[in-house]
Amino acid sequence: MCGIFGFVSSRNRPASEVLAGLRFLEYRGYDSWGIACAGDRRVQVDKAVGPIADATTTLAPSRAALGHTRWATHGGVTHANAHPHCDCHGRLALIHNGIVENHQELRAGLNRSHDFRSQTDTEVLVHLLEEALEEEPTLTEALVAVFRRVEGLSAIAVLDAESGSVAAAKNGSPLALGWGEDGCYLASDPIAMAQYTRRITFLEDGQGAVISDSGIDLFDAATGEELRPHIRTIDWDVSQSGLDGFPHFMIKEIHEQPAVLNRIAHDGPQRVARLAELIKQSDDVYLIGCGTAHHAAMSARYTLAQIAGKNVNTAAASEMSLLLPLMKPGSLVIALSQSGETIDVLDAVKAARALGATIAAVVNAEGSSLDRVSDETVLLGCGPERCVLATKSYTAKLAVFHMIAHVLRGDPVQGQEDLRLSAERIECLLQRESATGALHETALKIADQQHMFILGRHSSYPLALEAALKIKEVSYLHAEGFAAGELKHGVIALVTYGTPCLLLASDPKYLRESMAAASEVRARGALTIGLSTDAVEEFDIHFPVSQSAASPYEVAITAQLLAYELALIRGCDPDKPRNLAKSVTVR
Ligand code: G6P
Repeated sequence: MCGIFGFVSSRNRPASEVLAGLRFLEYRGYDSWGIACAGDRRVQVDKAVGPIADATTTLAPSRAALGHTRWATHGGVTHANAHPHCDCHGRLALIHNGIVENHQELRAGLNRSHDFRSQTDTEVLVHLLEEALEEEPTLTEALVAVFRRVEGLSAIAVLDAESGSVAAAKNGSPLALGWGEDGCYLASDPIAMAQYTRRITFLEDGQGAVISDSGIDLFDAATGEELRPHIRTIDWDVSQSGLDGFPHFMIKEIHEQPAVLNRIAHDGPQRVARLAELIKQSDDVYLIGCGTAHHAAMSARYTLAQIAGKNVNTAAASEMSLLLPLMKPGSLVIALSQSGETIDVLDAVKAARALGATIAAVVNAEGSSLDRVSDETVLLGCGPERCVLATKSYTAKLAVFHMIAHVLRGDPVQGQEDLRLSAERIECLLQRESATGALHETALKIADQQHMFILGRHSSYPLALEAALKIKEVSYLHAEGFAAGELKHGVIALVTYGTPCLLLASDPKYLRESMAAASEVRARGALTIGLSTDAVEEFDIHFPVSQSAASPYEVAITAQLLAYELALIRGCDPDKPRNLAKSVTVR
């Protein structure tokens, strides 16, 4: 939530480089953007409401600059509320990711009146810093004095035109520092600086840094004491992060899924062996995540039970309070996350760890807070996922748990074969759909509806929840997923003439029940859309899925494609659904 990018360089660099860095972070928020460059002892600022995609700037080149892309928390989406915020003299420009919980108290404690220009919680910080600089000899000391007083989870970065440096501190929200050839960088996500450097230092909570033309000085943000930076090399390939001819990241990332599955199949037991061993040794196992990652955890529960006979518990990370009384040494919490920065996930694993549980992560972002905090990490390895909606990171999680289940059962080769077959099948599905446009035709039929329902039984139930989430978040068509067996216990009351009902019936064991459910909703006027092995007459529209290990992936991708088509027909931007951000770092 909110993206931060900045640099201090040995040479003048165009302000457009900040815009370019911010474009990698737009998934963190796209309400407004703003950049600041160090001019002649004064900052120059450019900002605007709306996404940064086509933004340009007339700011002059400079050696130090920073920028921000906003997901609004305090104060509406306006030009005045866009970051950066400046002090009264134009020396400082400050940007912020997070919430300053005590902003009113801090404002009341300012020594004199200041020129406030926004309704944000952030702006008080720059005026506090302005006052601190009158007292403290250095920018580091002034930042320490201010940061100590800030309550809430925050990452702060400030450009000081006087010294031509950038200072930053963080607690909760992510911030990474990059060591480049001709300058140093900071960003909310290392992907934004991957084109300049792979040498990264992750700021830990309670740490601060000053980036100047002599490099990066790391310090303890409470005491100002100097710290030795730990530099690690991140191996994300930035070439994977463009659109590659696709109109949107969503559809590009949908098409990447066969390759993602093949990579997981290729690594086989190697990638997951240590986590499988931990699962074996633990007394009890809990899978947690938020949003799509939670749905993947629910699917993993079925997979582990069916294939490995292993019972695990699952919960949304925000509902961790349900599981905390069960945590003890010997418990294993496996957190699933694409970003590794979701605050509810981080809070949950920290609480579980405090009670003695071992923590494992199944995560896409290497070096993320979740990766760093965990005892064991399995990386998803799907490359940057830039669409706000999770697609490839979802199927990657399903594949990782399929592999784990087979390792636990003692037949990893079967797991690998299943994933290779699945990759092949979904490749065919993607080609077939590109050729026929059958999902486009279906989307046209249902695009004007207000509601749609998705019914799945057994392991198709979490798939139904995820299919509904994809459709509603990207197209704003109200879609709900249900356990098919619950149909007659309430859901059927919602079905009226023309209501689209998607029935997930890939398991022939449950086809009979699905056919019965289809007949029942059809009798009330519903349009039935079946995803099944056979095209039975109860389905008005039918999409084939195979009776194989590939079926969850076929179902997931069919739903993703339908959601994408619905978004386009209903005039929504698939990559930037309203009100959402990819990485939810505030509570
Ligand atoms: C947000 C995103 C979802 C994602 C969820 C969890 O809500 O919009 O796509 O599933 O956060 O994110 P994580 O990075 O932890 O998987």
